[in-house]
Amino acid sequence: MALDIRALKPGSGFAAEVTGVDLREPVSDADFAAIEDAFHQYGVLVLRDQDITDEQQVAFSSRFGELETSLGFDQYGGVILPQIARISNVGEDDQIRPHDHEKSRYHRGNSLWHTDSSFKKVPANASHLSGREVPPIGGETEFADVRAAYDSWPGSVSGITKEELEGLICQHWIVFSRTLIVGDIFTEEDKKRLEPVRQALIRTHPATGRKVFYVGSHCQFVEGWDFPKSRALINELTSWTTRPEFIYAHKWRQKDLVMWDNRVVLHRGNPWPDEEYRRVMHRTTVAGDGPTVAEAAE
Ligand code: OGA
Ligand code: MN
Repeated sequence: MALDIRALKPGSGFAAEVTGVDLREPVSDADFAAIEDAFHQYGVLVLRDQDITDEQQVAFSSRFGELETSLGFDQYGGVILPQIARISNVGEDDQIRPHDHEKSRYHRGNSLWHTDSSFKKVPANASHLSGREVPPIGGETEFADVRAAYDSWPGSVSGITKEELEGLICQHWIVFSRTLIVGDIFTEEDKKRLEPVRQALIRTHPATGRKVFYVGSHCQFVEGWDFPKSRALINELTSWTTRPEFIYAHKWRQKDLVMWDNRVVLHRGNPWPDEEYRRVMHRTTVAGDGPTVAEAAE
């Protein structure tokens, strides 16, 4: 079957479905080039019916670049490859975990709008999420097109202009973002290796030249600004960016593979009845090319 790419939100240029590709087999160079182009153009790609192993997922994802290794907060027996991050409510004993289990609380951070690994000095380029077991209700993943949000932003209610955002640097910290939703879940040791990092507030995509606000839940404050003013701006940019017209909500089917470009997309995972239904997702994460803030400016 020939490769085909179909827009999921016609007219918006955001999110597309790719058919005619089987990730159990090596993807030809020509098909890979078409997928990579579509990925840059659409920001989110959906591939249905990809009944893949971890090894096949790693092989495909590695075509996009070097992969991150998982923070390792939820690895267990079945998952042995360090490049696989497991996002699930199912424990080592193959049983559903209680809602208040520490790992469930850790993953619940994903229900806030965010961009993957923005709490790392070199944040992720892309994430590839494979729905190994998805619940029949809830648990959708929502994506926001920050390029369209940036292009149409009318300016801040407090009078800050788009031009004034250029050059601003924000601090991103996962300890902060988790505190917003599930409290102080990290040990002192974790906190030492998860120090806040600096990220540019405005990013430009290297392949398309499109600009975005690089915000999301890990974004704590603007350097040089007082905290209330920083929070007001970050909240305002996030609520503009996540207006309904910029959203693609993915309703998972078993064995979907969904990939998104963390440089231009915010995303969040919706809740589901997590003490009733299993949800097992395996993620590979393509590492970024470098810091968003020039080293010399540090
Ligand atoms: C992720 C993530 C959301 C979800 O894997 O990075 O945010 O719906 N997942 O599982
Ligand atoms: Mn995520």
